[in-house]
Amino acid sequence: MNMSITLKSPEEIEKMRVAGRLASEVLDYITPFIKPGVTTGALDKLCHDYMVDVQNCIPAPLDYAPAGYKPYPKSICTSINHQVCHGVPGDRQLKNGDIVNLDITTIKQGYHGDTSRMFHVGEVSIQAKRLCEVTFECLWLGIAQVRAGAHLGDIGHAIQQYAEKSGYSVVREFCGHGIGARFHEDPQVVHYGKAGTGIELKANMIFTIEPMINAGKAAIRELADGWTIVTKDHSLSAQWEHTILVRETGFEVLTLSEGARKPPEWVKLSS
Ligand code: MF3
Ligand code: CO
Ligand code: CO
Repeated sequence: MNMSITLKSPEEIEKMRVAGRLASEVLDYITPFIKPGVTTGALDKLCHDYMVDVQNCIPAPLDYAPAGYKPYPKSICTSINHQVCHGVPGDRQLKNGDIVNLDITTIKQGYHGDTSRMFHVGEVSIQAKRLCEVTFECLWLGIAQVRAGAHLGDIGHAIQQYAEKSGYSVVREFCGHGIGARFHEDPQVVHYGKAGTGIELKANMIFTIEPMINAGKAAIRELADGWTIVTKDHSLSAQWEHTILVRETGFEVLTLSEGARKPPEWVKLSS
């Protein structure tokens, strides 16, 4: 339903820029701690304290309880290897060769910023490295489609094409989302589809793009904790996420900071 897609005012957009930058800065802060031996619970605690004590913002995941879910127990998501998304931090230690996604959502002045990155733990296999790289390119291929007048399907199409051409599959059950005063708003931004289909993008919409790409088959299942999603075939999965503002002639990435990875060099940044 495209009826409840909110267009943000200039004041709201400014608040979204702040929340987005803060979320990205949490990832900058935590990067040096992501090493063999650290537990995901320790990473959660460090990020939580940084958000609350240093940034004076709220970690959106903590106690987040969408319909049909029990409240999320932690402040960040940590998804390792075959975990697709929503991995719940705990006692597990990262080990050499793991790939891990950290997904951060901040709330500042009532507005949300949502971003995630992949990290290598020590030395990782070339297969794991390639999956992370292709997924990063999928994110940016999607972002590069964004401008007023484009269609939602253009984003999914660009991502699916490249993922499948690379021998990978796109997760269907989870998608990007509108974001603003609420964590998850309309529209749903699926990471597959046909160009020219779906709603037309309008300036001042804000949504995330966050492709989950599997090295094996697309099928997923949920673990007994009620949150962690894994690949059914236990193949590796990767994800990158940015929060994006639609502009007349292009896009603005709201979740950037000093440590954010630069876009691939083929991306034309709009002014
Ligand atoms: N940050 C995730 C997203 O990109 C949502 C996490 S919900 C949580 O949409 F409760 F697991 F944190
Ligand atoms: Co998101
Ligand atoms: Co996220």
